[in-house]
Amino acid sequence: MQLFRLDASIRTEGSHSSQIADIVQQEWCDVHPDGRIVTRHLGSDPIPATAWPLAVNATYTPPEQRTNEQVEALALVAKLTDELLDADAVIVAAPLYNFGVSQHLKAWVDMIIADPRMSAEVGPLEGKPAVLVTARGGAYGPGTPREGWDHATPWMRRILADVWKLDLRVVETEFTLVGVNPALDEFQDLAADMRKAAETEAREHGRAIALSEAAA
Ligand SMILES: Cc1cc2nc3c(=O)[nH]c(=O)nc-3n(C[C@H](O)[C@H](O)[C@H](O)COP(=O)(O)O)c2cc1C
Repeated sequence: MQLFRLDASIRTEGSHSSQIADIVQQEWCDVHPDGRIVTRHLGSDPIPATAWPLAVNATYTPPEQRTNEQVEALALVAKLTDELLDADAVIVAAPLYNFGVSQHLKAWVDMIIADPRMSAEVGPLEGKPAVLVTARGGAYGPGTPREGWDHATPWMRRILADVWKLDLRVVETEFTLVGVNPALDEFQDLAADMRKAAETEAREHGRAIALSEAAA
């Protein structure tokens, strides 16, 4: 059994999305102690911003006319897509930055969509169990002043569940800036409750993806 884990935080220490993803991963490991884990960290190892246009232009260029850069970009597209195709289960940890996804994460998604294997009518990822972990500093739930300002989570759901047809579960972690930003001090109890709920959900979803693929 193989798990693919993607982290998109721009930090490698103290990341809430990574901590919650660790819980999901641990549950998967408990069910598959001999399982293999393939990881990619977009914060510490970003995809070059030039790779996607090179890869897309390469697909419109006859193979014998492609530049070395285009060939390399297409190889990276294939490598990133292989990481998903080879996995039995997937974890994506995606923070909210400036009300959307970081360019690192967008680049990763764009690269995979550029792979010709992903355009097949029956998507090659259809039904594969996956967990999306999101983290955001504020809170954007129903009735809050900024309800609807998180444009990352709905977009990631669209890509992972609707475009790639993964069997998706989502853990949303809010108010991660409570304790960091003094303006949010009044929300300490709420933030602690939200964290606890996210950890519980992470355990449940981790176990669910491990068991769902084991049953497949
Ligand atoms: C550059 C930057 C932009 C951010 N933009 C937002 C934002 O628009 N909305 C929000 O709620 N939090 C925002 N945050 C806070 C992060 O979402 C929060 O710290 C989250 O926990 C980051 O994920 P991580 O803990 O996995 O690193 C931002 C943080 C940074 C560093």
